[in-house]
Amino acid sequence: MIHVLFVCLGNICRSPTAEGVFRHLIEGHGLGDHIAIDSAGTAAYHVGHPPDGRSQAAARLRGVDLSIQRARQVSKADFDQFDYVLAMDTENLANLLAICPPDKAHKVRLLLDFAADGTGNNVPDPYYGEGDGFEVVLDMIEEASQGLLDDIRNKHL
Ligand code: 4NP
Repeated sequence: MIHVLFVCLGNICRSPTAEGVFRHLIEGHGLGDHIAIDSAGTAAYHVGHPPDGRSQAAARLRGVDLSIQRARQVSKADFDQFDYVLAMDTENLANLLAICPPDKAHKVRLLLDFAADGTGNNVPDPYYGEGDGFEVVLDMIEEASQGLLDDIRNKHL
């Protein structure tokens, strides 16, 4: 079993979206028994809350249900349990590396490192924004999810 954790700041917009999109993708490929997925936030503001209603609505239009998810904060044990710890932006990445044991740091990457032309790029925080921010988040996550699945298949399955 390969374990994948998606991490953003609040765990109510970007990382729940990534969790839902990636689960939808791998279940479509019949890999639900091979890859375990979760998400968490570097901050604790929203612990126990469901995903933001705007994220839920945008995901639902693409056939992805986020409603069952509840926010939690990332913990040190996550670096043991998960094989991939994927940050949505460079600030999340720095905060993760600050608490990650050095021998586990190779697990911590930017999600968009798995997008075709996304290396080093951030999934922008849509929380305070307006307009199509939630669609942009979904587009980026969908593309990176395909690359992530290819990476897992090449290395582990
Ligand atoms: P997320 O978005 O990190 O994608 O879940 C945010 C959600 C909440 C806040 C910031 C970002 N906040 O400051 O409450």
